[in-house]
Amino acid sequence: MSHEPIIPTLASHGHLALDRAELVTWGERLGRAASPPLVVTISGDLGAGKTTLVQAICRGYGVTEDVTSPTFALVHRYAAPLSPVYHLDLYRLESPSELTNLGWDEILVDDALVLIEWPDRAGDEIPHLHVPISLQHLPDDPSRRLLYAGGHV
Ligand SMILES: Nc1ncnc2c1ncn2[C@@H]1O[C@H](COP(=O)(O)OP(=O)(O)OP(=O)(O)O)[C@@H](O)[C@H]1O
Ligand SMILES: [Mg+2]
Repeated sequence: MSHEPIIPTLASHGHLALDRAELVTWGERLGRAASPPLVVTISGDLGAGKTTLVQAICRGYGVTEDVTSPTFALVHRYAAPLSPVYHLDLYRLESPSELTNLGWDEILVDDALVLIEWPDRAGDEIPHLHVPISLQHLPDDPSRRLLYAGGHV
């Protein structure tokens, strides 16, 4: 049985400047290669493309529902063939201790795919084993984002 690498080639060695379509293709590929349990953190400023990437990963992972930003609920749960998917947007989290109210402990033991925007808000609560991704605006090109993807699981 052959495995696609969880981090597509190139990205694991540094960074890429991707337009929206390229980012979506990359995310779908990551989603296809993902197997649970897996935590992926996605950092980046407002509008960097975190939710766009989450939507692509979900599509690749087999989520058929519309994936929308959990800005107010902070967490959305979706069904997929391999496992549930949790999409967290922690922008409005006041402190890591509030994670308990979101069912954090249950999420982590659910053998799920867990996709987390604004992971910094969770402090030390992010499991050590996770795939960190970061998206950054490019000052001289509004249509591209710098993608960093690091770590192997
Ligand atoms: N290369 C790109 N990759 C991703 N998004 C892009 C790119 N170029 C332009 N965009 C646009 O930038 C916006 C990114 O919005 P998105 O909601 O995905 O960002 P976000 O990081 O989740 O923001 P927030 O911090 O508010 O949650 C979208 O309107 C998207 O079309
Ligand atoms: Mg978002």
